[in-house]
Amino acid sequence: MTVVIPTFNEVDNVEILLDRIGLALAEVEWEAIFVDDGSKDGTPELVERLAQQDRRVRLIRRIGRRGLSSAVVEGALASTAPVIAVIDADLQHDEKILPDLYREVASGKELAIGTRYAGTGSTGDWDANRLKISRFATSLAAPIMKTPLSDPMSGFFAIRRSVLLEAAPNLSSVGYKILLDLVASAPRELSSSEVGYTFGTRQHGESKLDQTVALEYLELLLDKTVGRFIPVKLILFGAVGMIGVIVHLTLLKLLMAGLGESFAWAQAGAVIGAMTFNFAMNNRFTYRDQQLKGAAWIKGLVSFMLVCSVGAVANVGIGSLVYSHWAEWWIAGIAGAVVGSVWNYVASGWLTWTR
Ligand code: GDD
Ligand code: MN
Repeated sequence: MTVVIPTFNEVDNVEILLDRIGLALAEVEWEAIFVDDGSKDGTPELVERLAQQDRRVRLIRRIGRRGLSSAVVEGALASTAPVIAVIDADLQHDEKILPDLYREVASGKELAIGTRYAGTGSTGDWDANRLKISRFATSLAAPIMKTPLSDPMSGFFAIRRSVLLEAAPNLSSVGYKILLDLVASAPRELSSSEVGYTFGTRQHGESKLDQTVALEYLELLLDKTVGRFIPVKLILFGAVGMIGVIVHLTLLKLLMAGLGESFAWAQAGAVIGAMTFNFAMNNRFTYRDQQLKGAAWIKGLVSFMLVCSVGAVANVGIGSLVYSHWAEWWIAGIAGAVVGSVWNYVASGWLTWTR
């Protein structure tokens, strides 16, 4: 069995976890694949040292990327074992049920999950509010789940490798919810079983869940429902663009007042301000998985402004064309804006956020 362990700044946990996995899986042939996204606390260096002492330990280092689901997928795809398990590095998932998860899959089930919501499972010290949020989020996922599970939100499970490979081409790989992604992407209902465990309290390091988890969850749900027709990044890009229009108009009003009613200068300032706003928001949210920082942020902003300038020319050109030949002013206006925005989306995905 391969145990995939995603890590981001978990230096105080990995050694304890490995020891515990070794004890738990004494009867099972196993390897561990750590997938690290550029931890700065020495996690990958520590895993490297551990790997030199124990050939069952492997490490995938991803550079300049973030994402729990995509990290897990890459680790799983690096495995050649018939059974793949996934466990958090921070000791919140109880490794003592790993042998049960393994046995379920080795003896015929396609999927076995650790659950906090059935049998002996429990969420540990969660308060009522967090429980309510978690249950609400789980209920939102029901329509996209092909396999009914009591706890699709915890990324603690074992799966038959051939099943993972079947689902892999359809995975969204956005956000945190890799198990949910898997049961939504698999071609059919999977035979499954559940093993209860108690969600532990984090002892070392801190959670990486931040304000963007809700957004990432929404992205996963969107990708699984409308993703076939329209890319989720385009939806986010469009949403940022609409807020950008409000920023533009607000700036314009302020600058008009400040610059003694000179429209051209005020409009120029508002354009630059709105572009910067759009760039920063898209970098923070839409392209969070390949966020530009430091000098790359400045370079990105410049390339984004160039892209948007071309988009503005296309916008005016198409709009004028539609207006002069076919339609009323507002249809022409919308047509120009749509073409300009799609250009901005495609070209910035290509030139600004290049990976
Ligand atoms: N490679 C990689 N890249 N690993 C990551 C990243 C990332 O961007 N973000 C988090 N991780 C790793 C952490 O180092 C940890 O091992 C594991 O993923 C879970 O991250 P936490 O930050 O501890 O998340 P959590 O405890 O809040 O979330 C856990 O519980 C949720 C349910 O309450 C996870 O198991 C989630 O999958 C689960 O949904
Ligand atoms: Mn955790």
